[in-house]
Amino acid sequence: MTHKPIEGFSRLSKDQKIDWIVQEYLGGDKSYQDVLTQYWNADPELQKRHEEFSENTITNFYMPYGIAPNFLIDGKLLALPMAVEESSVVAAASKAAKFWLEKGGFKTTIVNTKKLGHTHFIFKAEAHKIKHFFNFRLKKRLFEATEAITMNMRGRGGGILNIRLVDKTQDLENYYQLKASFDTVDSMGANFINSCLEQFGNTLREEVQNEESFTSEEKESLQVVMNILSNYTPDCLVRAEVSCPIEELNDDSGISNEEFAWKFKQAVTIAELEPFRATTHNKGIMNGVDAVVIATGNDFRATEACAHAYAARDGQYRSLSHCTLENGIFRFWIDLPVSVGVIGGLTNLHPLVKFSFALLGKPSAQELMSILAVSGLAQNFGALRSLITTGIQKGHMKMHLFNILNQLNATPDEKAFFVNYFKTKTVTHHEVITQLNQLREQG
Ligand code: MEV
Repeated sequence: MTHKPIEGFSRLSKDQKIDWIVQEYLGGDKSYQDVLTQYWNADPELQKRHEEFSENTITNFYMPYGIAPNFLIDGKLLALPMAVEESSVVAAASKAAKFWLEKGGFKTTIVNTKKLGHTHFIFKAEAHKIKHFFNFRLKKRLFEATEAITMNMRGRGGGILNIRLVDKTQDLENYYQLKASFDTVDSMGANFINSCLEQFGNTLREEVQNEESFTSEEKESLQVVMNILSNYTPDCLVRAEVSCPIEELNDDSGISNEEFAWKFKQAVTIAELEPFRATTHNKGIMNGVDAVVIATGNDFRATEACAHAYAARDGQYRSLSHCTLENGIFRFWIDLPVSVGVIGGLTNLHPLVKFSFALLGKPSAQELMSILAVSGLAQNFGALRSLITTGIQKGHMKMHLFNILNQLNATPDEKAFFVNYFKTKTVTHHEVITQLNQLREQG
């Protein structure tokens, strides 16, 4: 069946949008309307607020919002909010938190909080003239021209840290950058950075026109291609770590402390060396990071892009976490570049985001960076611990059991039977179906 394009979809009311979708794509089946409307918030004002977050919103998309308690982070005991759909992520985080709670918890260090952005431009002028122009004229003007934009941020202790001219002509003919670093304090700062950069682009154009040392041909050659922040922020970096004597590891999986430590270190080393494994290893880390990023209304696409770029910073994709066994001490840590905010964006608008911040005791952006790195490290610890001992399916399938049972329309009594049945066995899809058929035949 072919469909007709539509003009002006965004101008339709929410009900009209739904009607159109149901008619055009869902064969006019009105029951689909109920699927959408059942997730509208009962409070119309709150619903409207959600709709204003993004265009063409027709309903709300639910995700489980769970709590991983017992996180001791730099001496503070926290319960982490996690928005994630994958079975066993919250359970694994909680288990790792409890494990390290008894061993002094997680320690974190903020390495730096610098954010970056660029004005990318093409300029066919002599390099030494461009450098002279930047050093003796443009740089000062860029700071002056952005004073109104940066005033509030400077008042909060942040602002533009530095601006450099970068000659990229080796990579692309006549390509230069204005590379700026920023401190955006407690905000993620995307709007602030992009506003500064767009002003840089305008000031660059104006100042080139007014600069006498450039010929008119050179002036005409200037093209500001784009002004945009970089989501790669290797200097917005936090380290989170755990450590304990190997003899105190006391894992309950039945292998000795030494074997556990040795296998764990091997697993981390493999992820440091082998990109196929590193990708899955880091995906597990991001299970923990993203769940808290989403629960705190931050941008998980930015977090993901940055983490993976950092993981490949020496030209090969590697593990974000590391492990050493030295002088009888097991040490496990992560270096996570992550740019997040605790003010601005959705932070004061989404009721559950506000709840998350209240739950976390209103952290600063630096504290949130620490929490995210800890969540990633805990998740990674939990995954590796399972992988090197029982395998992950045991825990994963235990949590996935309800998804299988719900797909099979199991009753509450049937669910209770299976929870008991799988107490000592690994859940498999096949076993659930076999047992459920037997149960239904019997009764
Ligand atoms: C699953 O979402 C994540 C893991 O595959 C991570 C890992 O293998 O380290 C369990």
